[in-house]
Amino acid sequence: MNRIVLLLLIPWAIASCAADAKVDANKELAYCDAQIRRALPYMTDPAKGARNIAADASDPQWRCSDINDWTCGFWPGVLWYDYEFTHDEEIRRRAEQFSEAIIPVLDQKSHSHDLGFMFFCSLGNGYRLTGNPEYKKSLLRAADSLALLFNPVVGTINSWPGMCDKKGWPHNTIIDNMMNLELLFWASKNGGSGKLYDIAKRHAEVTMKNQFRDDYSTCHVVVYDTISGKRLAQVTHQGYADDSMWSRGQAWAIYGFTMAFRETGEKAFLDTACKAADRMLQGIPEDYVPYWDYSAPDIPDAPRDASAAAIAASGLIELSQKVSDPETSGCYLDAARKMLASLSSEKYQSRDRNVAFLLHSTGHYPEGGEVDASIVYADYYYIEALLRLKALQESRPETLK
Ligand code: GLY
Repeated sequence: MNRIVLLLLIPWAIASCAADAKVDANKELAYCDAQIRRALPYMTDPAKGARNIAADASDPQWRCSDINDWTCGFWPGVLWYDYEFTHDEEIRRRAEQFSEAIIPVLDQKSHSHDLGFMFFCSLGNGYRLTGNPEYKKSLLRAADSLALLFNPVVGTINSWPGMCDKKGWPHNTIIDNMMNLELLFWASKNGGSGKLYDIAKRHAEVTMKNQFRDDYSTCHVVVYDTISGKRLAQVTHQGYADDSMWSRGQAWAIYGFTMAFRETGEKAFLDTACKAADRMLQGIPEDYVPYWDYSAPDIPDAPRDASAAAIAASGLIELSQKVSDPETSGCYLDAARKMLASLSSEKYQSRDRNVAFLLHSTGHYPEGGEVDASIVYADYYYIEALLRLKALQESRPETLK
């Protein structure tokens, strides 16, 4: 899409912000708590956290994965958020069990950027809520381990070392990796090396330069040359095509660059988050839950990705509080509320169909994995977004009239 078409579309996106969507955060958080209590009796092994429930599953309980899976931090993270809402000591005890079970991962060589998801969502929330010094130690170890994947010639973390040979991608960085910089920023402020801050900032700068197309859609993977540090290619792994916009990737960009702005104060990161958000809101379906990829050939019959909406909603709530223009702020907040209103409806909430919070996420469409399923990271960012909205409702009710 060229810039002129883009400029014509942006006013449309802003205009579409006019309508209002009401979400009762307390009511939806109580729903999340009730679902967790239906799931917990079946979650007997702390080293196995929730991962997914297929759309056609006869069993309404979670299928679990082990602590080496990239998603292992989300289930304990969900429990921590529920503890934050309920202050229930039994939920805290279970959050501790599932979080602590992940720690042995740190005894292995770092094998992907996912250490951020794994540790910051679990122990990071645990430390924030309890101040447990053991959690802090593990978080600092996780940050140091993640930093080993940074290549100073390229200026980014090698997201998937396993793909270097497998795919012939000598150094690859995926847009998802933006999320894991939060662990590095946190560590640099909490007793870790100041170099962790430099690594995270540099990664965000190089990603900002190479991961976006002219219209501010993101590509999933950028492949770099390890000798020259130059970009070799923009390709996809989980999206529809190398030049398409994979919805969850765009949501990671919104959230990740908003967080990078929060941690550094770099205005360019804020601008990038806004442009990524504007691009995602162009052509989003009426219910504000994107199809899994904006170029999926079978739209409007293509599967949705509720996880992309949940991640984007959480990121947009924060973004709405960072931009200074009240109209733009209102637009982002309204978009987030529309996403959360849809996700909280009969169509997207699992309710008595299974124990997850949400239906209709898409994990890895090209491989046929987790298509139209309940997936734990959708639930994680949904409950996080609800807590962010609740905080806003309580501290700044005037923004939510
Ligand atoms: N970070 C992997 C994914 O979003 O599917």
